[in-house]
Amino acid sequence: MGTMQEEEGLGFGSSLPVPSVQEIVRNDAKNIPERYIKNLEDRPKSSDNICPVSDDIPIINLSLLAQGDEDERRKLDIACQEWGFFQIINHGADGGLTKMKAAVAEFFDLPLSEKKKYGMATNDVQGYGQGYVVSEDQKLDWNDLLFLITLPPNFRNMKYWPLTLPGFKETIEEYAKEIQRVADEIFANLSLLMGVESDFLKQMHGDAKQGIRMNYYPTCARPDLVLGVSPHSDSSSITLLVQDDEITALQIKHKGAWVPVKPIPNAIVVNIGDVMEAWSNGRYKSIEHRAVTNVEKPRISAAAFVIPGNEIELNPLKTMVDDDGRPRIFKNGVKYIDYLRYTLAKKMEGKLANIEYLKLEN
Ligand code: OGA
Ligand code: NI
Repeated sequence: MGTMQEEEGLGFGSSLPVPSVQEIVRNDAKNIPERYIKNLEDRPKSSDNICPVSDDIPIINLSLLAQGDEDERRKLDIACQEWGFFQIINHGADGGLTKMKAAVAEFFDLPLSEKKKYGMATNDVQGYGQGYVVSEDQKLDWNDLLFLITLPPNFRNMKYWPLTLPGFKETIEEYAKEIQRVADEIFANLSLLMGVESDFLKQMHGDAKQGIRMNYYPTCARPDLVLGVSPHSDSSSITLLVQDDEITALQIKHKGAWVPVKPIPNAIVVNIGDVMEAWSNGRYKSIEHRAVTNVEKPRISAAAFVIPGNEIELNPLKTMVDDDGRPRIFKNGVKYIDYLRYTLAKKMEGKLANIEYLKLEN
């Protein structure tokens, strides 16, 4: 294993090298380079956050789900239909989560020359750099990242892992396992909600992979001009995000407004990705989200993406299609790898363009 990936990346796509935002800020915190200044209509505005409805995303208790609590499972169903986002508490992964955040912070604290040793190759999406840069005149996000395939172990490409950082590998390995346990519990519950056996969705992934995108958002003198991450939906089945306990930066599109996700210490923010939206024939929603920056404090987050095997087709489950109540919205026969290449080949343009690729034309 490994040789093919080392030579050809993962075959997912590639990204152009761009400067470290952390270094830009270190050298001159006042000046915002033109490439990062969003077009007027894309800039975050304070009026964006006024949500006419409720502004709290649902909270799900994982230990109740694991006990088979039906009320909690119903809450999960509603959360995935109406919000596409929820926060998980009582997940039992607190220790691993705290250690992971510390390990990620240590990585970004390394000198630039050290981090560059793990730099993304032009033919790979793994490593230290910035994702989704496809053109020299594309507007850039105020963010540095380290993306690693974490599971299964034989898919890890260790040349991107900062092995000189004591404990980093062990901490991330341990976290990858813990977060996968949480993901599997959610899949089991979603399977039951979708009318299939509890191990169905896990099996449906085929040779599932997990990738973790570790994000560093430097402070910004002008948060009104830039975005930490541009609006996008995730091309995962589900994503499990751990974020800073104090800084509110993640925003999700809900009923036409940008709703901030207020951090709950040690909670895991889970969202439905495009794959699950297709598998559920649109019952569960892959919601557009973005992250803003702030003047005071850098922010760290880590998003674990669960993705199916390359050859897995994104067909809606049979139980989710019926000609009377639930007409088919999604195509049969689109392979995950083809979908992913399509999404990575173009810059993040927001969700519509991506998920449309999976939908039937009408
Ligand atoms: C992502 C993402 C949001 C955040 O990495 O896909 O949406 O708050 N991150 O870091
Ligand atoms: Ni995302």
